[in-house]
Amino acid sequence: MIYNQFMLINPDPVIVGESFVKDYDALYKESIANPEAFWEKLAKELSWDKPWDKVLDWQYPYARWFVGAKTNIVANAIDRHLSTPAADKVAMIWVAQPTDSAQKDEVVTYTYKQLNEQVSKFANGLKSLGVKKGDKVMIYMPRVPEQFIAMLASLKIGAVHSVVYSGFSATALKTRVTDASAKVLVCTNGYPYGKKTVDSKANVDEALKDNKTIEHVIVVDRLKNGSGKTTPRDMFWSELVEKQSPECPTEMVEATDPAFILYTSGTTGTPKGVVHAHGGYMVGIYATLKLVFNIKPDDVFWCTADAGWITGHSYILYSPLINGVTTFIYEGTPTYPDIEIWWKLIDNYKITKFYTAPTAVRSLMKFGEEPLKKYRLSSLKILGSVGEPINPEAWLWFYKYVGHEKCPIMDTWWQTETGMHMITPVPSVGLKPGSAFKPFFGIEADVVDEKGNKVPPNTQGYLIIKKPWPAMLLDVYNNSKRYHETYFEKIPDVYFSGDSAKIDEDGYFWIVGRNDDVIKVSGHRLGSAELESAFVSHPKVAEAAVIGKPDDVKGESIKAFIILKQGITGDDVLKDELKQLVRKEIGPIATPDAIDFVDKLPKTRSGKIMRRVLKAQELGQPVGDVSTLED
Ligand code: WT7
Repeated sequence: MIYNQFMLINPDPVIVGESFVKDYDALYKESIANPEAFWEKLAKELSWDKPWDKVLDWQYPYARWFVGAKTNIVANAIDRHLSTPAADKVAMIWVAQPTDSAQKDEVVTYTYKQLNEQVSKFANGLKSLGVKKGDKVMIYMPRVPEQFIAMLASLKIGAVHSVVYSGFSATALKTRVTDASAKVLVCTNGYPYGKKTVDSKANVDEALKDNKTIEHVIVVDRLKNGSGKTTPRDMFWSELVEKQSPECPTEMVEATDPAFILYTSGTTGTPKGVVHAHGGYMVGIYATLKLVFNIKPDDVFWCTADAGWITGHSYILYSPLINGVTTFIYEGTPTYPDIEIWWKLIDNYKITKFYTAPTAVRSLMKFGEEPLKKYRLSSLKILGSVGEPINPEAWLWFYKYVGHEKCPIMDTWWQTETGMHMITPVPSVGLKPGSAFKPFFGIEADVVDEKGNKVPPNTQGYLIIKKPWPAMLLDVYNNSKRYHETYFEKIPDVYFSGDSAKIDEDGYFWIVGRNDDVIKVSGHRLGSAELESAFVSHPKVAEAAVIGKPDDVKGESIKAFIILKQGITGDDVLKDELKQLVRKEIGPIATPDAIDFVDKLPKTRSGKIMRRVLKAQELGQPVGDVSTLED
């Protein structure tokens, strides 16, 4: 079959037969007529210590779901399975990054029962250190089992976790720990990354140099060498848990109590602490995974993200466990020890649902389809994509060579703030390569102009959400003003996503990308303001402006325009120095690809840099409205 991006790819009848949702249109209509009834029905499939008095309390712009109810995400992710046959089912399979292609897999598995014991022990450990309901637990770890155990254990006792991506630098970690006023930090003494070993504990030590709130640092000996205890507040994970009981009651909290804070980049300033609640978030992620990936008890679900991002929270850990299936976790990257590792793992562990990012697809696509031919990939049923727009070419490659033309691709659009899938297909619908299909049930999304009026079909506009949804963020931690400004003031009465999109004549959504100064490098979200402040921390730099440039593999790459201080001339040595500086200030994911030294930057009369103008110039596009341009 020859495919192109304009055709409708109809689902395999077998997939339709197995689908929870057979008729998207009918269920969508029903869900929109009464969204609260739709969500309430799904909420009733979960376990609650006390039922809700009200499904939704919407006091614009704050939504509180399942008000009056008591529960805990962990009561649903673990406890409710313990009295069922699922207790002995594998909850988590973890495979370590091998040192070379020949090494036998180092695998750790936990049944639900075993996971409960590990989580309970660590929860008791946290309690023994004085961690209480509402206290903040910082988790700065690579993809190791303890990362997930620490997340679950925090929630179990009503504490609030904040996971920081292990690739972030000491400075980035410090900003987040300080904003969260965290009490405890969990980390590893380092971790393997390809051929290298990353000394992440050194970052922790640097980040905590002047810290006043962290009382204990718990170190997992991932390197298995006993290193990493460098200060009196450090202790090993093993020392903390060995004396703990494997039983720990789950603290029942208000459905509207915060479960976690996850920092994410915005247009301006430092990262925002996005706060999610136990009850609504739990219902939202449970329902979306179930219906979008058609979750069945025997599924082995592999989401290749990292728990440092929302995808890892919602769809590596919490939702697969709430749904009672097996979640698969691989410690390494898609290209080490070789470029076949993912396909090998899919066959060996019989992965049924595989959820990854366009960047990963594009980077593996570069090697052609030959490497895939050695693998059967026959366990796969549904594929997923997330994090950035997937171009039709990558979509079709994924569909043909990974899914063998029988696995539909769920291109799921959502955000840290939305917590759950918002615009996404379900497996029984016709797909257009490159389109994220239509809104999930109960979600009213639209594309509008700056006044909030719907734009005609195939016209680019602002992607907005009209009504609250259960996994909607509670607030921006410590900064409600920013919550209002970012999401609810640009266009009144609706949630402003920060993305641009088009809706075609069939109602399919096509996500164009961010319309603010957020840059998506390999699906990782970076703010231009953070990058610029890293540049200007160099003594030779006077001003900096950063834009995202289209990149064939990474989606976007970082380009910086730098004005040097008087009398300084720029050269390649300085460029390298600046690149290193940004890596140190933010992390390797933020490495700039190109730096131009310039004399001037386009600014408004009030002195704001017009990055939009720089970007248009760089890409040779019309610069648009420049009436506010100073010069
Ligand atoms: C931004 C949110 C949601 C989990 C991972 C990223 C972009 C996300 C898609 C998609 C096109 C997408 C948007 C969004 N994005 N999914 N399927 N198609 N773009 O979460 O770091 O909060 O980033 O990712 O630009 O605003 P995040």
